[in-house]
Amino acid sequence: SRSIDLAVIPGDGIGQEVVTQGLKVLNAVLPQDVKLETKEYDLGAQRWHRTGETLPDAELEALKGHDAILLGAIGDPSVPSGVLERGLLLKLRFAFDHYVNLRPSKLFPNTASPLAGRPEIDFVVVREGTEGPYTGNGGSLRTGTEHEVATEVSVNTAYGVERVVRDAFARAAGRPRKKLTLVHKNNVLVHAGHLWKNIFDKVAAEYPEVATDYLHVDAATIFFVTQPERFDVIVTDNLFGDILTDLAAAVTGGIGLAASGNINPTGAFPSMFEPVHGTAPDIAGQGKADPTATVLSVALLLRHLGYEAEAVRIEEAVSADLAEREGQAARSTDEIGDALAVRVAS
Ligand code: IPM
Ligand code: MN
Repeated sequence: SRSIDLAVIPGDGIGQEVVTQGLKVLNAVLPQDVKLETKEYDLGAQRWHRTGETLPDAELEALKGHDAILLGAIGDPSVPSGVLERGLLLKLRFAFDHYVNLRPSKLFPNTASPLAGRPEIDFVVVREGTEGPYTGNGGSLRTGTEHEVATEVSVNTAYGVERVVRDAFARAAGRPRKKLTLVHKNNVLVHAGHLWKNIFDKVAAEYPEVATDYLHVDAATIFFVTQPERFDVIVTDNLFGDILTDLAAAVTGGIGLAASGNINPTGAFPSMFEPVHGTAPDIAGQGKADPTATVLSVALLLRHLGYEAEAVRIEEAVSADLAEREGQAARSTDEIGDALAVRVAS
């Protein structure tokens, strides 16, 4: 019989609340014959305050054994900036070689989008997840003096770029519009930019059915706002993808709806699914957080594990739920989770 062995990292702030709802919907959508096992990992700000640990080797090793990871959110104002981000979240992405950071954007009905009523918006950003300026390749000289020099060198390897570009082409080829846009800044970042462009053009020759396009990242931000319907699949580096996907979330219904998958397509390591949003400490523990982004991340998780029908059921439930939000009183985190669980079960 089928089974899913899931690691759960609720993390900090609203992480716990939204993950609870994600698991509720996951339990509701899975057929009876699928055995779901979950193991919760106590990682994040509280753990760090208690023990000084971010992600001990033993836990990294244990996480490796699961089929997938569901993560809430990581980070807290009481922890110095970067400690948990680098020591936990990015450590997981790097250790498990999550080179595809998949971030879909869809204009759902009745959302607070400034683009409401516009033509259909449905695109996905394939953000490189293991290289770029995120590798920590830098340093500072004469630290703390007037002559301090800080470098943060972007690392782009042919191997790393080619594998994510190939993934993006394959995704584009599998979608109805078959369009792929490379976003970079090759008029200024000439070294990395040309590596990306050359590899993109080389792989494009193998996909004659995919229409290709190139945009500088600054121009891309304009089109995200003025003409987002032009996008289908976008491939870009780690930092550009980070920035563009917050913008994408903001213009298509808010960060409360944005889901993501940190994917290792080879299956060598477990992939990790998480909402794009952060820990929202200002509303943590109040039942105000919208769990929809986490629930949609569960759909991505199911799709990754081969449960396509269940993933679609979740996405349809979210669409239907959002369609009914107009004029409704605000619901709690729990109420939204309950409503989605009822919809996917029926
Ligand atoms: C995200 C976040 C992370 C990133 C931070 C918290 C390290 O902003 O998942 O987009 O920059 O990737
Ligand atoms: Mn981000």
